[in-house]
Amino acid sequence: ARITLRQLLDHAAEHGYGVPAFNINNMEQALAIMEAAAATDAPVILQASRGARAYANDIMLKHMMDAVTEIHPQIPVCVHLDHGNEPGTCMTAIQSGFTSVMMDGSLKEDGKTPGDWAYNVGVTRTVADMAHLGGISVEGELGVLGSLETGMGDQEDGHGAEGKLSHDQLLTNPDEAVKFVAETKVDALAIAMGTSHGAYKFTRKPDGKVLAMNIIEEIHRKLPNTHLVMHGSSSVPQELQDIINAYGGKMKPTWGVPVEEIQRGIKNGVRKINIDTDNRMALTGQIRKVLSEDPSEFDPRKYLKPAMAAMTKLCKQRFEEFGTVGHA
Ligand code: G3H
Ligand code: 13P
Ligand code: NA
Ligand code: ZN
Repeated sequence: ARITLRQLLDHAAEHGYGVPAFNINNMEQALAIMEAAAATDAPVILQASRGARAYANDIMLKHMMDAVTEIHPQIPVCVHLDHGNEPGTCMTAIQSGFTSVMMDGSLKEDGKTPGDWAYNVGVTRTVADMAHLGGISVEGELGVLGSLETGMGDQEDGHGAEGKLSHDQLLTNPDEAVKFVAETKVDALAIAMGTSHGAYKFTRKPDGKVLAMNIIEEIHRKLPNTHLVMHGSSSVPQELQDIINAYGGKMKPTWGVPVEEIQRGIKNGVRKINIDTDNRMALTGQIRKVLSEDPSEFDPRKYLKPAMAAMTKLCKQRFEEFGTVGHA
């Protein structure tokens, strides 16, 4: 059944679990995630970015979301817009059947320039006021995602802040978070504490200097009733890097967010955990493997089927690790 983010995260908070928000762009990803949700009896957030909407077409996405919900009627599914860049983008998503939208005012409409306080509060409040009239949930973001190691934003994978950022921008200020939630009325708050999008988050296993989980604890103390969101939460597993590189890939050595850090977040108010990169890697590893083991193969089902299986395995693992299992 379709469910809003607010309904889902209220339940998660009451029962102390986290919900992965997996990005989808195509049928294979949607089917693979739902297979994992059904196998573990877990509610799920399917999210589509602006890039996904452009890639798959809003009408196709709408029907895919409806189709997987119909295939698995027992699973609560929240359909969420990831990183809306302006109120209009959020409104067209709602028209397409999304039950939740992110208005990411941490960056301006161009997706590169950090948004200032008045801008961020203004656009986020505008979206919340409109969305709430229709019973739709809203996620906002305070703080800019980027690396505390280098001070660089996410530009590497095509979106995120351009140029060097200060620690003030890269770490959400807990007192400002309290004000932001009060002024915008968001249902969930994404915060910045050292994660970034894509595969290249950390150059070694992250410690507290580059992954500031203490910020989450502090924000949760001041905002115990606000659902927190962690972006850039792929763990970038070594075994997935190894599969890709064993079959002709060229990923540089890298570290993601350790699952135990996410679990620490879940104990401190983190309810929505955004994951895209890990699933991209799971798919790509198997596609590379099949095609390099049998270069004569050209039936897409031959490589997409194992690719989906690898993605389902990863999603199941996250449902288990985040405590989502059994809460459908
Ligand atoms: O925000 C990051 C997500 O991984 C979506 O990425 O904009 O390339 O679809 P995308
Ligand atoms: P990853 O790139 O770490 O998977 O993060 C995805 C994300 O935050 C989508 O909004
Ligand atoms: Na989002
Ligand atoms: Zn994100």
